[in-house]
Amino acid sequence: FHLYLDSADLAELRACLPHPVVHGVTTNPTLLRRAGVPRAALPALLHECLALGARQVQAQVQAADAAGMLEDAQSLLAQFAPGQLVIKIPATREGLRAGAQLAAAGHAVTYTAVYAPEQAHFAALLGAAYAAPYLGRLDDSGVDGLALIARMQALVAQTGGPMRLLVASVRTREAYLSLLALGVGAITIPPRLFPQLLDHDATHEAERGFLADARA
Ligand code: E4P
Repeated sequence: FHLYLDSADLAELRACLPHPVVHGVTTNPTLLRRAGVPRAALPALLHECLALGARQVQAQVQAADAAGMLEDAQSLLAQFAPGQLVIKIPATREGLRAGAQLAAAGHAVTYTAVYAPEQAHFAALLGAAYAAPYLGRLDDSGVDGLALIARMQALVAQTGGPMRLLVASVRTREAYLSLLALGVGAITIPPRLFPQLLDHDATHEAERGFLADARA
């Protein structure tokens, strides 16, 4: 299972990293804009995440046509060691073409903004590492996001192969636990959710008792 942090805000990321439960960091143009990070500063931000213990980092292309996506992806990939960077591509018709070429050349690809089971199926067929559905946004649109992601997960399992669903737009601890119960292979969470998953008051309380008894 791969747990990612979904953020381009270094202060937010530093509050969580390094930590051994975190596999990596996912970013997208919206997160960069929200954090005030210009695109030119993205490689440096991602290298900082790697230095903080992230095993993989993900960056999204910013072109709408396959040729532009490939050019953007290649210039990002050139700045990282093999295996460090996963290229995120929206699961459009053009995106599938670009991603297929990158995957065939041995690069890890995440198809993002996956809203339908067949998109996850095609992503798996094309050798992607991940397909990213957006749970919260599916729910916002009036769809039962969890039920749709369960259908995607069934298709991915049936297709076989190593591709994982990387569920994004995960806003609550309950949503995270429900996704784990579905057996999804990866989840990316906003850093604000991290303490809710890692820190339990009762555990701290028990620890305080143990430490007091150890001293007595
Ligand atoms: C995914 O890449 C996005 O960062 C994620 O969907 C954002 O979550 P939100 O829909 O809760 O804003």
